Amino acid sequence: MSSTAEIKVDGKTLELPLIEGTENEKAIDISSLRGDSGVITIDPGFKNTGSTQSAITFLDGEKGILRYRGYSIEELAEKSTFLEVSYLLIYGELPTPAQYQEFTKTITNHTLVHEDIKKILEGFPSTAHPMGVLSSLVCAQTAFYPASLDPNRAAPEVDMSIIRLLAKMPTFAAWSFKNQIGHPVNYPDNSLDYCSNFLKMMFATPAEAYEVDPVVANALDKLLILHADHEQNCSTSTVRMVGSSHASLYASISGGINALWGPLHGGANQAVIEMLENIKKDGGDTKKWMAKAKDKNDPFRLMGFGHRVYKNFDPRARIIKKAADDVLAKLGVNDPILEIAKGLEEEALNDSYFVERKLYPNVDFYSGIIYRALGIPTDMFTVMFAMGRLPGWIAQWKEMRENKEPIGRPRQVYTGYKERAYAPIDKR
Ligand code: ACO
Repeated sequence: MSSTAEIKVDGKTLELPLIEGTENEKAIDISSLRGDSGVITIDPGFKNTGSTQSAITFLDGEKGILRYRGYSIEELAEKSTFLEVSYLLIYGELPTPAQYQEFTKTITNHTLVHEDIKKILEGFPSTAHPMGVLSSLVCAQTAFYPASLDPNRAAPEVDMSIIRLLAKMPTFAAWSFKNQIGHPVNYPDNSLDYCSNFLKMMFATPAEAYEVDPVVANALDKLLILHADHEQNCSTSTVRMVGSSHASLYASISGGINALWGPLHGGANQAVIEMLENIKKDGGDTKKWMAKAKDKNDPFRLMGFGHRVYKNFDPRARIIKKAADDVLAKLGVNDPILEIAKGLEEEALNDSYFVERKLYPNVDFYSGIIYRALGIPTDMFTVMFAMGRLPGWIAQWKEMRENKEPIGRPRQVYTGYKERAYAPIDKR
């Protein structure tokens, strides 16, 4: 195949370089287009635009393939741990036993947060959504570690920010929940693994003893692996965009948390459960809700369905659907909304509206059902997603900075008024 593409603008033919990735994905490099022809490209929502060249995650939406650093999501979910996957994403290779031990030990040693975080937490009303609290606490790290604002720090110093963030995220997440329910916060327990420590901080109270259920801790670890990275999605692109101005790691990740929050992105896991609950309350008539989803005059969408890049199936959804059955069976939970979810999926897979538009269940369709079975409250679901996505955001931020990528600054096609004269207020 040729290594260039041709484009004709106003009768002038321009030759543009073709770039090819390791999985033979091809892209036209248009960076010189405006300089050579005066035109730009436009692509709202970046449906056909690559923003970067990245070596972290490979995704083939047509074939339903997802790989972190070359390893399939199926194999990682089955055999690995969340911290091992975090190391893989951030540093590029699976850790050796010594590297893994050092990594987990260092993270464990940094789980404690500054006592003044409690004062910030107390300033939030109990009505605060935990995602808003989480993004604020992550951004507040810039105040406790002001050296992190320096964009020219040496690699070991950046590594320390990375470790701190991975270590403190479960503490922030659990505390954002405790603030909401008005319970005292729990301090981390460094004798526990990453997920068990989080669960203890979430659910233990001073009133009674709390034992972490290993079934719950293992299920959570698997969910975090499935969420750990997903190449240039909305929140990850936000992290790279914020970081491209040389804003600190903490500020960049805080931006990513906010982008994840929306119901079209990570917030969909909360929206799915709310939708399934509404369907149940309404008598469980899935056909009625399917009709609403297809009605273009009705704003309702089938939450947890559809994906910008997956057009046959979302491999994460397949793993999660099976895990939902396993986890509910192991915990002895019988959740009627699982049946409603399966019924909706069955109908959608046989409905021409969904089939023609290639709308399949995404990662969020069944994850909420597992989170519910694990005892996680609905508005904490997206916080769980953020905890899982953290290493991916960090890896993408690090790659962007190490590759010395330029500041992100798209262009536009202006459609407003041409120049006009200012009218004094008494003349309008
Ligand atoms: N229910 C009903 N119709 C849908 C749905 C849905 N969930 N999703 C897409 N469609 C329809 C659209 O109305 C559109 O129809 P049209 O061609 O007749 O106009 C067509 O399918 C294409 O949809 P777009 O919105 O153009 O697709 P896009 O790639 O921009 O959006 C998105 C993808 C945001 C995920 C969308 O499918 C959606 O809103 N899904 C529900 C929310 C959701 O589950 N989000 C989580 C995604 S996974 C994640 O971020 C972790």
